[in-house]
Amino acid sequence: MDTPSPKVDAMIDKYLEAPQIFKNREALNHSFVPDELPHRDKHLDRMVSILISALRGGTPSNIFLYGKTGAGKTAVARLVLRAIASKGRGTNMPLIPSYINCNQFSTNYSILRKLCKKIDIEVPFTGLPTDEVYSRFRDGLDSAEQLMIIILDEVDKLVNKSGNDVLYDLTRMKVDLERARVSLIGITNDLRFKSQIDPRVLSSLSEEELFFAPYKATELQTILEQRAKMAFHPGVYDYGVITLCAAIGAREHGDARRALHLLKVSGELAETQKLNKVTEDHVKQARNHIEQKTINTFLETLPIQSKTVLHSIYLLEVNGKKEIFSGDVYDVYSEICGIVGLDRLTLRRISDFVNELIMHGIISAQEISRGRYGRTRRMQLSIPQEQVKKVLVEEDKTGRLKQVIDFVPTLLRP
Ligand SMILES: Nc1ncnc2c1ncn2[C@@H]1O[C@H](COP(=O)(O)OP(=O)(O)O)[C@@H](O)[C@H]1O
Ligand SMILES: [Mg+2]
Repeated sequence: MDTPSPKVDAMIDKYLEAPQIFKNREALNHSFVPDELPHRDKHLDRMVSILISALRGGTPSNIFLYGKTGAGKTAVARLVLRAIASKGRGTNMPLIPSYINCNQFSTNYSILRKLCKKIDIEVPFTGLPTDEVYSRFRDGLDSAEQLMIIILDEVDKLVNKSGNDVLYDLTRMKVDLERARVSLIGITNDLRFKSQIDPRVLSSLSEEELFFAPYKATELQTILEQRAKMAFHPGVYDYGVITLCAAIGAREHGDARRALHLLKVSGELAETQKLNKVTEDHVKQARNHIEQKTINTFLETLPIQSKTVLHSIYLLEVNGKKEIFSGDVYDVYSEICGIVGLDRLTLRRISDFVNELIMHGIISAQEISRGRYGRTRRMQLSIPQEQVKKVLVEEDKTGRLKQVIDFVPTLLRP
């Protein structure tokens, strides 16, 4: 007890001396909402000016927020609603804030069930008719003089999956209630959404409308700087790191979420490399890392038919075919289908899969005219062969494609 172990001492010192990058990693999470949102004063002010009537016994107009991802819509809506609800506490105007992400809750039933929960009405997981759940919610809410403000985030996901019904019900509820009141805040990242939704629903949902323009690089810099100060220990990053993340984020349609994620991954890379400084080089590594991950996720979720098409192009390339034409791909594809027991689709369907792969930057292609034989496409992989192989071998749960990963197509045999 008296003489400390020099060995353990050294271990402790090693840990104590290991460089610390993060002070508060959570500050870089995408769901973190800071108390201040630089460059969104106008939007905050407008939201407050609309929702203020909630504190005066009125019913705020419905608001529709739209703009591309990472423009601060969710953050602005949540921050304002949080502030209004906290001001409302202690007054005699009960205000129930409710946030629903329609990416997670995308059926009418699940949304109504979640709203019921907010006012302590239990609804079973499944089993009731949706109309019944709606009535329970409406009657429950109407049992007292109160206001519910509902944020429906990524509301396009709801409409795409389940149609306009719930939105229609909720907008209509405004007139249906006698004592209680309800206000809606709809948010979408999808700029085409307005043309897809039922015009009647749109006009009641967007009594007020707020557009969020993408951030410019200089604006992203302020945003990143604020978060970096919260997240990192002082002095562990070069300012160039902020500028570079901001520049990349600005190129990606001014997306603050991407820029923040890039900053976080850069910090994590410095941390795993046991360095005491985050550098621009880490940002570059982080970008590659993220890109690769995005591509892998996309590849993993491809249907088996599409994977088989990719597999065919891969096999042609690793076996040394110099120029790969559509016809070659279809030959190899047909051969693989025979071996692994997959239905062989038509050339036309295969062409759709090829288009999808091109669109996502997995392969590239050039149109080639063959005179009176019509046109064909010459294609090649745009990502490393190794990356394709890894996905085909490891990620395919059925293991079907794994068995033909070293297969040499007949047309390439000597
Ligand atoms: N003006 C801002 N100031 C600080 N952080 C912001 C700002 N705008 C967006 N963010 C942050 O960027 C990320 C993405 O913002 P978010 O509100 O989710 O965008 P959207 O909902 O438009 O896709 C979140 O972590 C958010 O906190
Ligand atoms: Mg959002």
